[in-house]
Amino acid sequence: MQRHGFLLLLCCAGASATLLASAGDATSQWYQSARERTALLREAGKAIFSDPAFSASGRQSCASCHDPAHRYNPPNALDVQMGGSGFRGQGLRAPPTLTYLNRVPPYDNHHHDSEDEADNSIDNGPTGGLTWDGRIDSGAQQASIPLTSPFEMGNSEAGVANAVRRSPHAATLRAALGDDALGTDSKAFAAVTRALGAFEEDYAEFSPYTSKYDAWLTGRARLSAQEQRGLELFNDEAKGNCAQCHLSRRGLDGTPPAFSDYGLIALAVPRNPAIARNRDPGFHDLGACGPERKDKAGQDEYCGLFRTPTLRNVGLRSTFFHNGKFHDLTEVIEFYVTRDITPERWYSRDARGQAIAYDDLPARYHGNINRDPPFEGQHPGAKARLDKDEIASIVAFLHTLDDGYLKDNPYRGTSPSASPSASSPVR
Ligand code: HEC
Ligand code: HEC
Repeated sequence: MQRHGFLLLLCCAGASATLLASAGDATSQWYQSARERTALLREAGKAIFSDPAFSASGRQSCASCHDPAHRYNPPNALDVQMGGSGFRGQGLRAPPTLTYLNRVPPYDNHHHDSEDEADNSIDNGPTGGLTWDGRIDSGAQQASIPLTSPFEMGNSEAGVANAVRRSPHAATLRAALGDDALGTDSKAFAAVTRALGAFEEDYAEFSPYTSKYDAWLTGRARLSAQEQRGLELFNDEAKGNCAQCHLSRRGLDGTPPAFSDYGLIALAVPRNPAIARNRDPGFHDLGACGPERKDKAGQDEYCGLFRTPTLRNVGLRSTFFHNGKFHDLTEVIEFYVTRDITPERWYSRDARGQAIAYDDLPARYHGNINRDPPFEGQHPGAKARLDKDEIASIVAFLHTLDDGYLKDNPYRGTSPSASPSASSPVR
């Protein structure tokens, strides 16, 4: 979307240059200065990202939950992170990686794939948007949430404005956005979120495509026998069927796989009793139908749906699923293949010792739960689609998705989505 807008601008800039040389010069100067301002904005955003002065406690930054050293995954194995002014506020969800967010399409109730990438006649249902429930559409908009959320950085607009005016980034932001950029609290707050948004659009940093799998796809590495077997099981519709949602193949136009179709799906992940808000038996995090997301409240068909995450860099996480219930990739895959075979292993029990299947989703929403393979055909007594060795192979394969195997993006120049020039300049 953004990249199409950018290409359009480029084409028109080219056309006007041939028509009117002076206008062409003005256009190229505009581009030069826009590029410089984007670079300044990014520089400020990068510094702010790791600067705890922007939190109410003075001890937390974006990097505390999205650690650059873990490819913007959380640096620890907590189910959900602590935050807020006294570090007493507990989050509701596990922080996702911030890598590859440029591949997330804007939220759409009825998503059709792009012509270049797949069959665009199929309605894939609710898809896209940032956060686990898809309620946000841009990185800059997203940044305002953690800055002021009582269980994240716990600050106020005025607190953020004061922090930025006092900070060494103030001069950089004024150079990027104009002398008055920090004039009022709301302008200063907007400058901070814009800078963070611009930093998140630094594709060399956030969408590097330097995993072993990318090396293999472009003929630069060989997978081990176990990794290769894991990939086959991951793709095989009768076995893992993981690639149905975590896309593993390049698009028709060469776009590298994002390992997500960004669809919103109900997997019925078990309730996590370690989350304080879950002490209230009447509270449920229902994803797309609320309570964090507001626009689908009361629309039952959206209840229990969470956005499919990318699996790129998943090996650098120690916490999995929206509620951080799992801490081990082997266990995640065991859940997929035995959710409905041994529900007593996964879900809590009632007073009579019976498993309460799908214990984090009220019964009226159970019709939303996904039953495609690997769930299809599961019932107590059925045989799991993957055995222990097969699961170990898939885990080995998942580790080929961690960035850092290659030095540089091997697709550069061969695919529009992988090419870092696709970012939008500051206007
Ligand atoms: C206390 C931990 C914490 C801090 C600090 C934090 N985040 Fe997050 N972040 C989260 C959680 C949890 C989510 C998922 C929220 C949800 O689904 O409702 C998230 C989601 C996001 C997303 C959407 C990712 C996606 O996959 O759609 C972005 C972008 C983001 N954070 C950026 C930031 C920025 C920028 C900062 C600093 C201003 C920041 N975060 C600070 C925990 C944190
Ligand atoms: C029908 C779509 C679908 C299929 C098939 C599927 N997944 Fe997922 N996957 C999801 C969704 C949706 C989530 C997030 C669910 C949640 O947190 O509530 C997820 C989450 C994950 C996570 C946790 C990632 C994180 O950052 O927390 C892993 C790991 C994972 N899937 C691996 C697999 C593997 C391996 C397979 C095949 C055995 C598979 N998935 C099959 C949709 C799917």
